[in-house]
Amino acid sequence: MQPLSAYTLILLIITLSTTTTNAHNITQILQKTPEFSTFNHYLTLTHLAGEINRRQTITVCAVDNAAMSTLISKHLSLQTIKNVLSLHVFADYYGSKKLHQITKGSTSTATMYQATGEAPGTTGFVNITDGKGGKVHFTPEDNPSQTDVVYVKSILEMPYNISVIQISEILNSPEAEAPTSAPDLNLTSLLQRDGCKAFYDMLTTSGAIGTFLSSVDGGVTVFCPSDDAVKAFGAKYKNLTAEEKTSLLLYHGVPVYNSMGMLRSSNGLMNTLATEGGKNKYDLTVQNDGEDVKLKTKVVTAAVTGTVVDDEPVAVYRVDKVLMPRELFKGAVVADEPAPAPEEGKKKKKTVKKGGDVEAPGPDASSDDYSDGDAADQKANSGGKIVSSAVMVVLFLVVGLF
Ligand SMILES: *[C@@H]1O[C@H](CO)[C@@H](O)[C@H](O)[C@H]1NC(C)=O
Ligand SMILES: *[C@@H]1O[C@H](CO)[C@@H](O)[C@H](O)[C@H]1NC(C)=O
Ligand SMILES: *[C@@H]1O[C@H](CO)[C@@H](O)[C@H](O)[C@H]1NC(C)=O
Ligand SMILES: *[C@@H]1O[C@H](CO)[C@@H](O)[C@H](O)[C@H]1NC(C)=O
Ligand SMILES: *[C@@H]1O[C@H](CO)[C@@H](O)[C@H](O)[C@H]1NC(C)=O
Repeated sequence: MQPLSAYTLILLIITLSTTTTNAHNITQILQKTPEFSTFNHYLTLTHLAGEINRRQTITVCAVDNAAMSTLISKHLSLQTIKNVLSLHVFADYYGSKKLHQITKGSTSTATMYQATGEAPGTTGFVNITDGKGGKVHFTPEDNPSQTDVVYVKSILEMPYNISVIQISEILNSPEAEAPTSAPDLNLTSLLQRDGCKAFYDMLTTSGAIGTFLSSVDGGVTVFCPSDDAVKAFGAKYKNLTAEEKTSLLLYHGVPVYNSMGMLRSSNGLMNTLATEGGKNKYDLTVQNDGEDVKLKTKVVTAAVTGTVVDDEPVAVYRVDKVLMPRELFKGAVVADEPAPAPEEGKKKKKTVKKGGDVEAPGPDASSDDYSDGDAADQKANSGGKIVSSAVMVVLFLVVGLF
């Protein structure tokens, strides 16, 4: 048999390595043990699983089905259960060793509940105490009397990315268990909120709203230009044909959910609801500048100025400018923008590489400094481990051949 050419092998290695992430999948991790099936089920129902998979450096405190049934018997709303369970996800790595070596015997750790911004004061923090006889205790800071929750065992450790441990009971926090109204995921009413009204009116008048609404189930991110931005854009908008207006409006939606954290950690191309492939790429570049998130279209750079809602699967952010796609405003580069890169050469290369295929929605994984932690990316390679082993096999092949 003819051995694969070195070139093919190198290409294969590059392809495999670039799609390898440190993707952990909490659903898969917990699936191996039936005693955590209820906890696992609720991580999925509350969308916390996606949030956990996107994070790096995290500790998940799972409880068994018996402990979960105590929580479920309280008949809390799903949103409240989400708050309670997010208290069980620490924003730091605690493997078994670290838990038993806590300096000064006690430490306070922030949880995902604290990170939601819904937890007032020190609620959302959990104290970990390495007590007598090597017993590790967990106590929610807003419920000091709960001292009986202890570390049971380690389920999985991937230092220092994810640690999954079992604790004996659900952590009770009065604040996390307080009734919360379900988040409003009705895009129609969300878009009528402060500052998005003018954009909403354009969506309904043009009929583009339908595409936005039908994208909600699969996840959607909407960049809504402020009322002032829409007003300033009025004359240019009037100038567009009906079809162009629709494309412009669809350009303000991305067909995947992006949390603020995901936008902050990802730099790269994103397809939009207007993307059709071929010439009509209608993509935009997300670039984070410290805590700020900028959207670059090559015609304008807009800044994300606020969050209307960020609750998987729906995110709506306010932006300070109407996003002008280069497909509609070629040559209309706004004064303070750098000149667009020469399009011709680039386009030719792209066509050869991608064969004119419609790109999958979501940030372009080929972007250099694009973060690994993206959901779309992880979906594309749900088997991080399998890919890594494939790389190993190929490497062995190479070593064997040369
Ligand atoms: C948590 O730990 C901090 C010090 O690390 C301590 O001041 C505080 O009282 C503790 N709270 C509870 C509820 O144990
Ligand atoms: C943790 O993630 C990094 C990438 O951020 C990866 O290189 C490393 O292999 C991961 N560790 C484990 C134990 O999977
Ligand atoms: C969404 O909100 C709009 C406007 O507030 C309302 O007319 C519509 O009935 C709502 N849809 C659902 C499914 O609740
Ligand atoms: C509208 O289109 C015309 C012709 O294409 C152009 O000359 C004019 O500058 C445009 N107006 C605006 C406000 O963009
Ligand atoms: C994680 O694993 C579950 C079960 O195998 C699967 O349904 C899900 O799509 C996976 N999630 C990701 C992001 O790969």
